[in-house]
Amino acid sequence: MEIIIQRGEVPQTYNVELENVTLLTLLNHIKTKIDPTLTYSHGCRSAVCGSCAVRVNGREQLMCEYKPSDGDVVEPIRNARVIRDLVVDGSMVERFNRAGEAWSEKNSNERVSAEAMERIETQSDCILCASCFSACPVYTANPDFIGPFALTRVWRYVNDPRESGIESKMAAVQSNGIWDCTLCGACVPVCPQGIAPKQDITMLRTKSVMMGYPDPTMNFGGGFDLGGWDF
Ligand code: SF4
Ligand code: SF4
Ligand code: FES
Repeated sequence: MEIIIQRGEVPQTYNVELENVTLLTLLNHIKTKIDPTLTYSHGCRSAVCGSCAVRVNGREQLMCEYKPSDGDVVEPIRNARVIRDLVVDGSMVERFNRAGEAWSEKNSNERVSAEAMERIETQSDCILCASCFSACPVYTANPDFIGPFALTRVWRYVNDPRESGIESKMAAVQSNGIWDCTLCGACVPVCPQGIAPKQDITMLRTKSVMMGYPDPTMNFGGGFDLGGWDF
């Protein structure tokens, strides 16, 4: 099988006699048998740690899950600084989680209903692989966009009946957050955990409006008169 790996500005082709293996197994083979300089990140090898996301033929994949085909082109994820080969600077995870206050405020043993747990179950499965961040087109225009994984986590916490600090979290996502999303949906199909950040951002928008925040997408540009109602 031929596999092309983007290494800095240079695509490098490797020929490997392996079939029906994961991309991670294939790269481990290249590194141990062919080219020890090849650099990539991995940890759990079982789609849990989130450290092995790359792009294959322009689409985000976990290396420990994806089964490569002949001619596949492998690149680092987008929107992050490349350190070497397929390894990127992962500091955006902490940066955007901090910006959105995407954390639990208290360690509560309070019992919650099965229905309440069900509402936050999917978002709780996020492994912070940053595939959604890589797929999001907003970063081209706004590198400070809090973005899909952090906003999904914010929704998970504001939707949890045990949590406090909801007002502060909702205030934190008004700027560079929920209103900067174009609702394009590119973050949804790439999530290995079946999370839909676009949907969670939509829910955060609805909650914002219910809390009294203005919806900037409803700006009619100067206002007009509709039968006595001012917009
Ligand atoms: S939401 Fe999905 S794609 Fe985004 S970081 Fe979490 S697990 Fe990865
Ligand atoms: S739906 Fe929003 S967060 Fe998701 S990729 Fe599009 S702009 Fe980014
Ligand atoms: S190695 Fe942990 S998610 Fe792939």
